[in-house]
Amino acid sequence: MWLYLVIAFVTYVSWMLYWNLTDALPGPPLYLPLFANALQLGVNPLHYLKNLVRWAKDYDRRIFRLWLAGDYHAILSNPKDIEVILSSTEVLNKRGIYEFLRPWLGDGLLTSDSFKWHSHRKMITPSFHFQILKEFLGTMNRTSTKFVKKLRIISKDKKIMDIQEVVHKCTLDIICETAFGVEMNSLDDENQEIVTCINDLCFILTERMYSAVKRFQILYIFFPVYYKLKKQLNVFQTYMHKIITERRAGLPKEFDNAESTNAYYSKRKLAFLDNLLTARIDDKPLSYQDILDEVSTFLFEGHDTTASAVSFMFYTLSRHPHVQEKLYDEQMSLSDDPNWEPSYEEIQEMKYLEMTIKECLRLFPSVPGIGRQTTVPMEINGQYIPAKTILILLIMSMGYNEEYFDKPCEFIPERFLPDNRTGANPFDHVSFSAGPRNCIGQKFAMMEVKAIMCKIVRHFRILPPVDDLKTNGIFDMSTSMKNKGRTKWDATMSAVLTLKSVQGIHVRLEER
Ligand code: HEM
Repeated sequence: MWLYLVIAFVTYVSWMLYWNLTDALPGPPLYLPLFANALQLGVNPLHYLKNLVRWAKDYDRRIFRLWLAGDYHAILSNPKDIEVILSSTEVLNKRGIYEFLRPWLGDGLLTSDSFKWHSHRKMITPSFHFQILKEFLGTMNRTSTKFVKKLRIISKDKKIMDIQEVVHKCTLDIICETAFGVEMNSLDDENQEIVTCINDLCFILTERMYSAVKRFQILYIFFPVYYKLKKQLNVFQTYMHKIITERRAGLPKEFDNAESTNAYYSKRKLAFLDNLLTARIDDKPLSYQDILDEVSTFLFEGHDTTASAVSFMFYTLSRHPHVQEKLYDEQMSLSDDPNWEPSYEEIQEMKYLEMTIKECLRLFPSVPGIGRQTTVPMEINGQYIPAKTILILLIMSMGYNEEYFDKPCEFIPERFLPDNRTGANPFDHVSFSAGPRNCIGQKFAMMEVKAIMCKIVRHFRILPPVDDLKTNGIFDMSTSMKNKGRTKWDATMSAVLTLKSVQGIHVRLEER
């Protein structure tokens, strides 16, 4: 007990010293010393996101600060400030909030820094070459057809359904088969344990990230959730171990030496897991831990993000039948054969679908915030930021900025017509981030969402959960949640690592 009191006192004193030395930004008042702004931020991922977006608007989208249990955070939401960070080749450090992902994702591409990040980014980039993506399209098409069949069963008689869970299964099956060569078959209700495990891990780690108490390891071990986390990490890593060892066993023997690996490399491009298993950095193969970290990172990042995008596509389309009709027309102009499978080139021709996805991500970005940590003091457009500040780039608030988007709460895919983007600031919405640490899977993701949604639009009309809904389902989170005629069917956004709707995304489907 005494030890905790001493630690609390030392943290408090150092926090006060640091605060006096560094604080130059506006921010919510600090009522309680140790907890600082943590209690104002809220108690669950729904509150965190809502309060951050509200503050961003209250502070006129200028940079504002938050103190969370001894850590100084600067929140950015203005494209001009965001541009400074994303285009920098210096501010690439991912410490800070990403620390809480480390027990799960280790030092994978999303969470690593410096030499490791550089060398791994260089090594993994060829796995997302368009020639490899072309080979993935077969899996994406096949799984989308299976998804349509599954939806036909669960949406029978226009039954209201929450789309999020089944979409997750679809994108999980796609990433496992394309990146790891493993048939997960979660759409056939196999491997349910791993599906639940991933959901639990997302929730437990987000909750810890913003908790004033659970952040501290010495306190965290007293919460039952710590033991649940350990159990689910064990389930996850055992599963990953199976994937890695089975794949390694299937590799040809010639990969045992560097020369033949290089020869093989020069002949063809390798898919993700084979690439990891055969890669050499400074002439050494990757360690088992390195491989585990990357496989875990790509399994999570490669399916949870696209699941969010596809789910919110269902949501927005269910409220915008005229957009659906335009999408349907585009599909029919490519082919009216019900069994048609698009080629890579035809996927590129789906321009209206692409604009619709961009518009959906503007309003419902799968990754609602990005973090960085400064290592030295810096200035962002004249604003002093101390060293060791955790920067949060609040993508969620950017799409609702009236200065950059006219009528931001209206769903208008045509905003993204090339002519309408002339003169637009390229940093006004950065759903896939930008600069050196942008999303490595952006092309993979666009192709996947298109492959899934083109099938959906061809086979179904997506309907809202009930007829005569009075809202279009799009609300600026910075304004009050209560007074806008919201219904129980309207999404309530929460940042459980990726964007999700707390009460589900409910739609009905009608066969075309
Ligand atoms: C709609 C889908 C997706 C969206 C909106 C999205 C968005 C993003 C964003 C905003 C970042 C920057 C995160 C940060 O800096 O903390 C990011 C990074 C990343 N994404 Fe994606 N992503 C999507 C799909 C994917 C897919 C399908 C993959 C893999 C197959 C993937 C793999 C990654 C990785 C590994 C990083 C870290 C890159 C680095 O730091 O070098 N993402 N993504």
